Amino acid sequence: MMRCPGEHRPALPVAYITGASRGLGLAIARSLEGRYALGLGYRTTAPPNLADSLPLPGDVQEKATAETAVAELRKRFGRLDLFIANAGIVARRLTPTTTLEDWNTVWNTNVTGIFYGLQAVEASLFESGGQVVVIGSRAGICGAVGAAAYAAAKAALVGLVRSVAREWAGRARINLLLPPYMDTDMGLSDPRARERARSEHLMHCPGSILDTVRVLVAIIETKTVTGQIFSSDGRITHLW
Ligand SMILES: NC(=O)c1ccc[n+]([C@@H]2O[C@H](COP(=O)([O-])OP(=O)(O)OC[C@H]3O[C@@H](n4cnc5c(N)ncnc54)[C@H](OP(=O)(O)O)[C@@H]3O)[C@@H](O)[C@H]2O)c1
Repeated sequence: MMRCPGEHRPALPVAYITGASRGLGLAIARSLEGRYALGLGYRTTAPPNLADSLPLPGDVQEKATAETAVAELRKRFGRLDLFIANAGIVARRLTPTTTLEDWNTVWNTNVTGIFYGLQAVEASLFESGGQVVVIGSRAGICGAVGAAAYAAAKAALVGLVRSVAREWAGRARINLLLPPYMDTDMGLSDPRARERARSEHLMHCPGSILDTVRVLVAIIETKTVTGQIFSSDGRITHLW
């Protein structure tokens, strides 16, 4: 829509997405473009230039990364409404060959990184009445051969999200989304994962990034839902 010079442009709500350079995080960022001002977190690969966006480099394993991101977003856009804790890594090793370094890197990225993120966004989300969506994994519920550190870390997010939802009651919301298998760098790093996922999927397809984004958008459009665990899969997960 054309705007006249000086015409007031309504302020957009503001989202901070970690791991927004590629994969699911970039798909989420693209789907929110135009509806949110975006903070695009990344570590090594710079994200594309999206409308009303701010690239936010940094390793989520460092406490300062989320603190700086929130400070930069508040300086540029004045508020924060949504935090998508998406950045994650997997170490593909059987348990006996998983090193302590693998274990620590997976936990520091997938759990401690989110813990730091939640600490950094809390005050801003209380001001805006905002929300968080944490990206978990079915592996955290069902386990995964050759990815025990990852599965254990993703399982920890269940307790983290549900505890924070209780702590934030009446002030801000937080939910956990478990994606299906997706054709991203992470998904494709296990050559058999795609076929395994397809064979269990009730629609006889591997999982869909697009459907995961659709479920995420539905979650963020709710007004009262919090402390819940959602799946965008077509495999039946024996959740609890
Ligand atoms: N793909 C699947 O099949 C699948 C299934 C279930 C759940 N998930 C979850 O979905 C989320 C997204 O995964 P994906 O498949 O999109 O993975 P991906 O394609 O490998 O992308 C991972 C993203 O996380 C960022 N990242 C990784 N380590 C980081 C760190 N220490 N600090 C900052 N950013 C970091 C990467 O940034 P750089 O580009 O800068 O490295 C990248 O943007 C993850 O939480 C994953 O566990 C994926």
